[in-house]
Amino acid sequence: MSKRTIVAMPGDGIGKVVLDEAIRVLNAAGFDAEYVEGDIGWKYWCSEGNPLPQRTLDLITEHKIGLFGAITSKPKDEAFEELSLNLQEKRLVYSSPIVGLRQHFGLDICLRPCRTYKGNPLNFIRRGSNNSIEEPKVDVVIFRQNTEGLYGGVEWSNPPEQVYDALMTHPKFKSNFGSAPVEEVSISTRIFTKKYTERILRAAFEHAKKYGYKSVTVCEKPNVIRETSGMMYKMAQQIQKADFSTIELWNTNIDAQMMWLTKNPENYGVIVAGNMFGDIVSDGFAGLIGGLGFACSAQYNPETGIGVFEPTHGSAPKYANYPVSIVNPIAMVESACMMLDFIDEQYIASKIRKSVAEVIVEGKVQTYDMAKMKGHADVVEKGAASTTEMADTIIEKL
Ligand code: NAI
Ligand code: MG
Repeated sequence: MSKRTIVAMPGDGIGKVVLDEAIRVLNAAGFDAEYVEGDIGWKYWCSEGNPLPQRTLDLITEHKIGLFGAITSKPKDEAFEELSLNLQEKRLVYSSPIVGLRQHFGLDICLRPCRTYKGNPLNFIRRGSNNSIEEPKVDVVIFRQNTEGLYGGVEWSNPPEQVYDALMTHPKFKSNFGSAPVEEVSISTRIFTKKYTERILRAAFEHAKKYGYKSVTVCEKPNVIRETSGMMYKMAQQIQKADFSTIELWNTNIDAQMMWLTKNPENYGVIVAGNMFGDIVSDGFAGLIGGLGFACSAQYNPETGIGVFEPTHGSAPKYANYPVSIVNPIAMVESACMMLDFIDEQYIASKIRKSVAEVIVEGKVQTYDMAKMKGHADVVEKGAASTTEMADTIIEKL
């Protein structure tokens, strides 16, 4: 078989650092691949007026698999001011390239596992009976619809007349918002379609079945958001009844779920949600297993086989220019393992995961977040592992 080519998209800030370290781990674990660099991020917005250049889209179309670090995003007015002067005349409007990437390739299935690492000092603990301390084992996989809903980009401030007139035909719009001057109205839509709702639900149920989770929880708010959340829950009931009757279907509201996950996180297995609630609930669960230094994700289109794998953290600009990088590379390394799973290299993935688990359980080498230090350039002097040292230690264990 010919060598695989992976599109490596470092992006901004710490994105490059963690991606380079993850590639070092992949190489050391024996994953035989070539990496081509895909341009993405702030630099390309400022210099070219496009944070996601066409050449990067072409590379992903060709090679299908991408590893992504992180990008810096800013609100559109701030973004406009940083654009080079000759491009400002073109009245370009900034939008996030990672959201753009998901939409361009229809990477509608987003998978975010949150599993307790044994021995991680950042694990969630709670008080049990007789003042005992309990450390519940979290093993949750969140399936987030990644292209629609509130992040679908269909929004207006001072909406055009046709839109406004159409909305005025809705009795609730008329009574609740009809008296506001149109130029004071901002609207962000939440659109769900059956096709993509079914896809995320089926992916969640199939995962539960394949890996033996006893329940799938739809985490939305169908009692209030009746059309979109309501449709998702109703479809989940139908799918469960028809094809997954051995798996329990649970229904939680996003707000209540955010409370329950700190009370009884061990009760949950697979969770499925729309775009924004999936984003929220996955950050919540990630907080229980170590936070952003550990939160990994996969996003893919099941029809085309295109997949992009990334940590959920951003570019952490405040740590980006340290002479010795201090951030935790584990989230990126685990995202790379999800890539390996996706391309049927599970053996290498499990080797890497085993090394990571050993390093954590041993507890001798810890990045600043694990050592519970405040992030600062001096943490390495004070005993925290640097990004490179953590990757080296993972490599030693392979
Ligand atoms: P962030 O995730 O970049 O950083 C927040 C804080 O989390 C950091 O200050 C640091 O304390 C901690 N942290 C993040 N990654 C870590 C790691 N690997 N190891 C240890 N600690 C880590 O989020 P923030 O500061 O809100 O955003 C910074 C920039 O990143 C913004 O421009 C934002 O738009 C962008 N962003 C990009 C994302 C992406 O590329 N997918 C996702 C989230 C934010
Ligand atoms: Mg997020």
